[in-house]
Amino acid sequence: MPEGKSVNKIFAGIAGRYDLANHLLSGGVDFYWRRVLTRMVKACTPKDMVDLATGSGDVAFKLRDRIGTGIPVTGLDFCEPMLKEARAKRASKASYSDIKFEFGDCMDLPLDDNSVDAVTISFGVRNFENRLRGLREILRVLRPGGSLFVLEFSQPDKWFSPIYYFYLKLILPWVAALATGDKSAYDYLAGTIEDFPSKEALTEQLKEAGYETVEATGLTFSIVAIHEAQKALQR
Ligand SMILES: C[S@@+](CC[C@H](N)C(=O)[O-])C[C@H]1O[C@@H](n2cnc3c(N)ncnc32)[C@H](O)[C@@H]1O
Repeated sequence: MPEGKSVNKIFAGIAGRYDLANHLLSGGVDFYWRRVLTRMVKACTPKDMVDLATGSGDVAFKLRDRIGTGIPVTGLDFCEPMLKEARAKRASKASYSDIKFEFGDCMDLPLDDNSVDAVTISFGVRNFENRLRGLREILRVLRPGGSLFVLEFSQPDKWFSPIYYFYLKLILPWVAALATGDKSAYDYLAGTIEDFPSKEALTEQLKEAGYETVEATGLTFSIVAIHEAQKALQR
């Protein structure tokens, strides 16, 4: 698994062009993935929400758009340049003004035990230095009955896999180099995606971390998956 310090450095280096590269490289499908994620979060009617590894804040903003004002949203990340992007975007809409963007490392969250109803993390778990430790740390801060929603790259359906990996390894880093000026960051991305578990294997890891129920939904030929993992009501 990647070292936290080098992950931080990679994102600090591309922070200013992260959004552009994201939308370009996914062909805009990332908007759809975040829409599905926020719809699932809304269905669990949370009283408060924390978006981890929030980066430039897109999930936090979409949560606010879908669920409305009155439900607190906080975005946490350990990379200050990414948080700076999120804070700058907050000014684009009045309803975003009370979304907090603060420093927080998923290995050691600045949150109390049993204090949050819904935690989201989109394209963050893959970068954890220690996945099991991070998943357990999130479990600690969830209220009993609360849910973690993980949107992350997954292993694509078998028939689609050759096309996908051809794009990921041979085309994407070069397009990303044009968009961000940093090819190595996207070589890193391709490597972490290839090493990441299938949705079935991640389901098992979430259960090993202590979540009571886990449901996985593959999207776009399972290029990505959303895992909804619930903390037991009585612990
Ligand atoms: C690929 S970006 C995803 C950003 C955003 N969630 C999105 O969907 O666009 C990954 C983010 O995870 C953050 N990150 C990685 N490991 C982290 C950790 N241990 N604690 C907090 N943030 C972390 C990085 O700084 C980066 O902003």
